[in-house]
Amino acid sequence: MADLSINLAGIKSPNPFWLASAPPTNSGYQVQRAFEAGWGGAVWKTLGEPILNVSSRFAAISFNGQRVMGFNNIELITDRPLEENLKEIYETKKRFPDRAIVASLMVEPKREKWHEIVKRVEDVGVDGLELNFGCPHGMAERGMGSASGQVPELVERQTYWVKEVARTPVIVKLTPNITDITATAEAAAQGGADAISLINTINSLMGVDLDTWNTIPHVAGKGAHGGYCGPAVKPIALNMVAECARHPRIRIPISGIGGISNWRDAVEFMLMGATGVQVCTAVMHHGFRIIEDMIEGLNHYLDEKGIASVMDIVGKSVSKYSDWGDLDLNYKVVARIHRERCIQCNKCYISCEDASHQCIERLVDENGKEYLKVREEDCVGCNLCSIVCPVDGAIEMVEVPSEHPPMTWNERQAALGRLSGCSVDIKSL
Ligand SMILES: Cc1cc2nc3c(=O)[nH]c(=O)nc-3n(C[C@H](O)[C@H](O)[C@H](O)COP(=O)(O)O)c2cc1C
Ligand code: SF4
Ligand code: SF4
Repeated sequence: MADLSINLAGIKSPNPFWLASAPPTNSGYQVQRAFEAGWGGAVWKTLGEPILNVSSRFAAISFNGQRVMGFNNIELITDRPLEENLKEIYETKKRFPDRAIVASLMVEPKREKWHEIVKRVEDVGVDGLELNFGCPHGMAERGMGSASGQVPELVERQTYWVKEVARTPVIVKLTPNITDITATAEAAAQGGADAISLINTINSLMGVDLDTWNTIPHVAGKGAHGGYCGPAVKPIALNMVAECARHPRIRIPISGIGGISNWRDAVEFMLMGATGVQVCTAVMHHGFRIIEDMIEGLNHYLDEKGIASVMDIVGKSVSKYSDWGDLDLNYKVVARIHRERCIQCNKCYISCEDASHQCIERLVDENGKEYLKVREEDCVGCNLCSIVCPVDGAIEMVEVPSEHPPMTWNERQAALGRLSGCSVDIKSL
């Protein structure tokens, strides 16, 4: 069995699976039950001034029979008094000393307010702090959450204030509601953050009721933008994690969050640079017990690959993520249809005809049987036909040899720059 324990900026946990700050970490009762089930850590539901919440506050998108592909909420931070939360954090840490308990914090952008709350939560024995600069709805009007999290200077300054007094590692949780996440990630690093976590939820409106014309969800007939999460946001979160992981001026550990529902998702985030992961929607959908499959699956995966420690996979795919200008323009794949698997649904033919390069031919063989064949010389290898094909293995994307050696756009431009002014035929490049 592989060693699943992680050390994220000094915060240790027996496995990389933490609960994200959200409804499943709202109380000692819940976090203790989660730890009993096997979760390695928990980021407590954000602490701050007691808050009033609205009713209703959640909505979800189901897709093609799968419930809760995307989830949305207009909930705020904890609605329970700080003293109550602190007492329960203390008791939970005492019962589960080997698990990571991180306190998520959100206060007004005032130095003394940050100092005060940091001291109070550290006194009850938390392993670390997570600064919530991400909440997209509510409290922004008070300068908190994403109102701070979208401004690099405010992220840097408030991180610095926390670091002035913090004795435990400080994780800065980033909002995805920004053009370039690396700007705020870098600001957090500049402010002295020990780690970053991402992503918090994405601005969203889940829907409109066609009969009442109310938003979904609505509160007495009125709606507000809410935070989007769940499986649908995973590609967005993974990209943001990867961008931070490969950024030369960030260089602090990452806690990956966003649409993680099983061990495979977790491995992807860790390969792309996350030292551990946090989960919210999948637990809201299926409960704490999903941790059993997550641990078992991760263990199997590592054993099969002969990897002794989960920490050994962290960041192993980061160097494979680059810019478009670094991709080989001469690499070529084509689609190949396997007749024995094809059920003649014609989906690939229609997609290639209408939305790609019209290179799938409908032919008839010597027995009068219809079949489809790709004209490989005209196929651009876009993948569309294999994406829409409903039969596994009916369309294979096959690498074909290129007449030209590898050359990226950047290399091509550099070569053109070197050659400009001389008489070489630059069209051949
Ligand atoms: C109902 C709800 C409440 C949340 N409350 C908080 C919160 O108090 N503090 C916080 O930092 N993030 C909060 N989040 C965001 C989650 O911690 C997490 O960043 C986000 O849901 C993405 O992860 P997921 O796709 O696994 O759900 C909340 C999310 C949901 C769905
Ligand atoms: S890969 Fe693209 S271009 Fe090639 S056959 Fe499929 S859809 Fe057509
Ligand atoms: S989409 Fe797949 S199954 Fe359908 S015709 Fe094309 S190859 Fe055959």
